[in-house]
Amino acid sequence: MNNQDRQDSVQKIRKRIEIHVGIAIAALVVAMGVGAAGFVYWGAYNVSALQQHTEPVFTILNLALDRSIRQRAEEVEPPPLTPEMAEQGRLIYQNKCVQCHGAPGVGRDDVGKGMTPVPPNLAHTAKTKNADEIFWPIKHGIKMTGMPSWQFTFTDEQIWNLTAFIMRLPELSPAEYQELVANDSVEESTDRNDVSASAPARDTALPDPERGKMAMYGYACIACHRIPGTVGPHSDVGPPLKGIGERRYIAGVLANNPENMVRWLRHPTEVDPLTAMPDLDVTEQDARDMAAYLETLR
Ligand code: HEC
Ligand code: HEC
Repeated sequence: MNNQDRQDSVQKIRKRIEIHVGIAIAALVVAMGVGAAGFVYWGAYNVSALQQHTEPVFTILNLALDRSIRQRAEEVEPPPLTPEMAEQGRLIYQNKCVQCHGAPGVGRDDVGKGMTPVPPNLAHTAKTKNADEIFWPIKHGIKMTGMPSWQFTFTDEQIWNLTAFIMRLPELSPAEYQELVANDSVEESTDRNDVSASAPARDTALPDPERGKMAMYGYACIACHRIPGTVGPHSDVGPPLKGIGERRYIAGVLANNPENMVRWLRHPTEVDPLTAMPDLDVTEQDARDMAAYLETLR
């Protein structure tokens, strides 16, 4: 065998190995594809809320959650948290959070019991997290857990009040908590529309279509409408909003202009008492931002 022949046969062997490896990889990819398709299509994955993840998956998901929140919370600058703020926060907490998270000496309501992940005990959270890492998930919510975003319900100021209360939880005994609750006078309002006087002056801000698009999720508009630019259940309870920016009328009754759109979004049942579109406690500014987004749909 001369040198040339030897090189040729080495080449040939290499080619053959490459082909075999190629076939093996292709077979593996096909097998994984079929497996994944079967997993999805034949419903192999059990979505029951009482089937917890395996320990390693749980650990990885929790780590991903913690890291994601920590990363984003860095941009948040906490104000000094005072006892007065915590007291204001408690009033909101009792109304909107106790059902899922419980409170000192108070168990979770039915909604908060059968959930996976289980809504955490926030006294424990307060011991392990900084204020900004508590503020962030309240404002933005946590995807795929059942923790809602509250930024279209409360002002930042109110969310800081909630944060101040949660930071106090570790030192609050059930008896002290009960005493605070017992001393509450008439039902205190936690509606953001009622406190907008003390809220930052967003009502004078220019309409922001991007924020309006986020509000479509925040107010759950996507549960009833198909809205271009959003992803959702594609339900047709309400009319699809494609091209709404070009239409002459809103819901067939109001001329389509920005003021009327704001009016419709805030109080549809005042405009048309028989409409199936509910009043959703939309603030003036949120309605303006949403109207600005709808205006872009042509
Ligand atoms: C429908 C049930 C539900 C309601 C109502 C709810 N939460 Fe949650 N919350 C959850 C769930 C579920 C999680 C995420 C669990 C996890 O860690 O995976 C969560 C997470 C959190 C976290 C992050 C906890 C951590 O350990 O990092 C904070 C803070 C929080 N909620 C505060 C609140 C506040 C304040 C309210 C009231 C304004 C509220 N939640 C209302 C279900 C709820
Ligand atoms: C519970 C379901 C439901 C929710 C939630 C809902 N809508 Fe509607 N919406 C409707 C229905 C039903 C109509 C048709 C009303 C009519 O014609 O009387 C409608 C009508 C409209 C119209 C007029 C459409 C047209 O063709 O003229 C707009 C715009 C609109 N909704 C926007 C929104 C926005 C923005 C939100 C969130 C803030 C929202 N909707 C939330 C059910 C809903």
